[in-house]
Amino acid sequence: MNEPLDERPKPFLYVVVCAAGAAGDVGTLITMAQGRGWGVGVIATPQGLGFIDATAVEAQTGYPIRSAWRLPGEPRPLPPADAIAVAPATFNTINKWAAGVSDTLALGILCEAYGMGIPTVLLPYVNSAMAAHPAYQESLARLRGMGVMVSSRESHQPKAGGGADRFRWEEALELLGPAADARR
Ligand SMILES: Cc1cc2nc3c(=O)[nH]c(=O)nc-3n(C[C@H](O)[C@H](O)[C@H](O)COP(=O)(O)O)c2cc1C
Repeated sequence: MNEPLDERPKPFLYVVVCAAGAAGDVGTLITMAQGRGWGVGVIATPQGLGFIDATAVEAQTGYPIRSAWRLPGEPRPLPPADAIAVAPATFNTINKWAAGVSDTLALGILCEAYGMGIPTVLLPYVNSAMAAHPAYQESLARLRGMGVMVSSRESHQPKAGGGADRFRWEEALELLGPAADARR
């Protein structure tokens, strides 16, 4: 028998935040996701922590920001993820994720998500000079081949301010829509 809708636990979204220009506005995605019924937890890369207002994010989500691995025996601070949004995603984290490097908690979660079948979306925030590197295009192709849903955003010009105000956070939820629904 199906549970009544209002008694089901909320689906839980991990937002992985990297050290890129738009990171300070991650509250925009948190608000949108919560408005659509998601619980949200933030995982920041160690460098990404310096780009966000941790106090404000923790107040908004109700969960501690995760950035380092917990010690063995420590409780898990976040519920398991039903979906993951990597936003904004850096050149660095995208290439390391595609290569299977797991030297930050964020990368460890992303590398494992593939094997666990967790729907994952990627919103790169990378300038066109970095995006021209062949390794970056290969990384995106590899991640797409793994089922990662990649946003349509064009790279911004280097040294031109980045255009964080035009970053389409809503694309994370648009891309996740059907895949996330399928897990409920
Ligand atoms: C002010 C500032 C802005 C940056 N913006 C970007 C960016 O928009 N995209 C990017 O890929 N890297 C950017 N970087 C470089 C990354 O922060 C750097 O590669 C870092 O090692 C990424 O770490 P992470 O991938 O673990 O978050 C920026 C660095 C600084 C200092």
